[in-house]
Amino acid sequence: MKVARRSRDTEPRPTVRRAALAVGAAVALVTGLAGVGASAAPATLDTAAPGKQSATLPYLNPRLSTERRVDDLLSRMTMAEKIGQMTQAERANATPADVTELGLGSILSGGGSVPEDNTPEGWADMVDAFQDGALASRLGIPVLYGVDAVHGHANLYGATVFPHNIGLGATRDAKLVEEVNHITAKETRATGPQWNFAPCLCVVRDDRWGRTYESFGETPGLVSRLSVAVRGLQGRRGQLDHRDRVLATPKHFAGDGLTTYGTPTGDYTVDQGISIVSRQEFARLALAPYWPAIQRYGAGSVMPSFSSVDWTEDGVGNPTKMTAHRELLTGVLKGRMGFDGLVISDWEAIHQLPGTWNEQVRAAVNAGIDMAMEPAQFRQFITALTEEVEAGRVSTARIDDAVTRILTAKFELGLFEEPYTDRRNLDEVGSAKHRKVARQAVAESQVLLKNRGHVLPLSKKAPLYVAGSNADNIGNQAGGWTLTWQGGSTNVIPGSTILEAVDDASRRNVTFSETASTPVPSGATGIVVVGETPYAEGFGDVGGPQWAYDPGDNGVPRPVKDMKLSAADQQAVDTVCTQAAECVVIVISGRPLEIAPALLSKIDGLVAGWLPGSEGDGVADVLFGKKRFTGKLPVTWPRTVEQEPINVGDADYDPLYPYGFGLSTR
Ligand code: GLC
Repeated sequence: MKVARRSRDTEPRPTVRRAALAVGAAVALVTGLAGVGASAAPATLDTAAPGKQSATLPYLNPRLSTERRVDDLLSRMTMAEKIGQMTQAERANATPADVTELGLGSILSGGGSVPEDNTPEGWADMVDAFQDGALASRLGIPVLYGVDAVHGHANLYGATVFPHNIGLGATRDAKLVEEVNHITAKETRATGPQWNFAPCLCVVRDDRWGRTYESFGETPGLVSRLSVAVRGLQGRRGQLDHRDRVLATPKHFAGDGLTTYGTPTGDYTVDQGISIVSRQEFARLALAPYWPAIQRYGAGSVMPSFSSVDWTEDGVGNPTKMTAHRELLTGVLKGRMGFDGLVISDWEAIHQLPGTWNEQVRAAVNAGIDMAMEPAQFRQFITALTEEVEAGRVSTARIDDAVTRILTAKFELGLFEEPYTDRRNLDEVGSAKHRKVARQAVAESQVLLKNRGHVLPLSKKAPLYVAGSNADNIGNQAGGWTLTWQGGSTNVIPGSTILEAVDDASRRNVTFSETASTPVPSGATGIVVVGETPYAEGFGDVGGPQWAYDPGDNGVPRPVKDMKLSAADQQAVDTVCTQAAECVVIVISGRPLEIAPALLSKIDGLVAGWLPGSEGDGVADVLFGKKRFTGKLPVTWPRTVEQEPINVGDADYDPLYPYGFGLSTR
């Protein structure tokens, strides 16, 4: 659906736009039509000098403080307009006209929900079309557009796709993590979205969790240190209105990584389960990273977890969903931590609460949810919340607090002055400069676990023989949240696979046979790249459900996750490491995988490669010694899956490789 478009590059949008707004609002004031949803913008615009109109309308005056502008705008809003601002819809289910009619505060792209033209321009056009709808509303409050750019703006074809957080955790490099997130912010904002549902500040404790790879690691200390990702996305205070910054969303508050295996109610086995924990342990393991994210880096939004918390000191058996956890959302997050940003519920998380729909909406908003992520049932949310306010079961003070938080974010993002996408950075999306940083991140994320006979770095002489399921599959090396929600083995993005990188780096004859069915040349060095196929959320839980809906899957269910090497990969390792003069195995996965002792004994070099993303070249850089191995394990590497959960500090801690382990090369 095409909305009549203004020309973008030449028109002085802010002036024209502000005039339209000012006149529209002024007409509403004069006619006393406050509350009428229809746009009051007249046929002809008042062409008085810019800034003059805004003097009559404080909320449009950028010279006034954000607080003053918010107060002024809030005072002009009807309850319907306030509740509209508290509502977020998914782009596939809403139109710009819906944004105008309902005064929707935000639109999101769920994982893989991309414009037909999945290019930087296509994204900017899509976001700006929704913005047109917002500016056509009575008060012309701009719309926030949110995406999950969790390892680069990876829904967008051609974006720089960085290592997932578990690889960034292995780098221990806070400066690099900040830079990676700054580039992510630049490529995201340049294409329209001003809001990133990232970083995940989960402290993963059971690697059987399908979201392990979204975590920086298993200790609150490491995750807290890398919460600097928030500053990478937002910049420093006062920089949110820059075209290379986006609103960050530390998530999922809190304890998403603490849940106990087997406690989820649905098909998942870990994700969205119950954190059975004392308040003290919860504070130590789950809340810790949010203190720097909020108090040091000023995170502008937070997303509660689908999971529940069951306090052991209160006698377990009475879990409360985070989405309705007033003690933690309002008492701790907004109270003790002093969080003044907005709390956005997770995808239909409100539906998981006990009670009727109205009771669910009431409980969530009263607990501290400021905006509801209601991808399809946004109208139903508006109706229910309106009824709850009219019945006095949700106070107008709570509504005003929520809308104040939402409007504050919009003013600080500069959306009232520049509502449309600033496209000047469009040509930097996926640029060589950005990919260079991604390649560095890949190299620093590689963890050398075994180096028998100093096989690494590889010499540049012997013929090379490459095998394994993940040697030449950029979809597998990128993992979930890439082009589609779950990612996919057939998801091809610009970049380099590990095979291509080895081929480029070695400039020698490289034999490739994924299943090692081709004979291994005598004296060859073998490189076997093994690991997992992509997944996201509970579909990656060990023993969890199988995903079968990505186009490339042709409806064939993906393998159930077990944290073990596939039979084909085990066979490839056995074959190559038996026949080659020396062999190196690289595990491309979202978490540690179980390697049987008999197989491990045949391996000379073992590397944890995690999910490197688009720049496979970074793996070759450490394989051939262009860069040294410096990575350290961000999570414990268990001997067997049965050891999970296993974390540093546990009694009887006896992993295959401990947290923090990593060999170096000269
Ligand atoms: C998902 C995830 C959350 C994401 C949101 C929007 O269910 O839990 O991390 O930000 O929905 O895609």
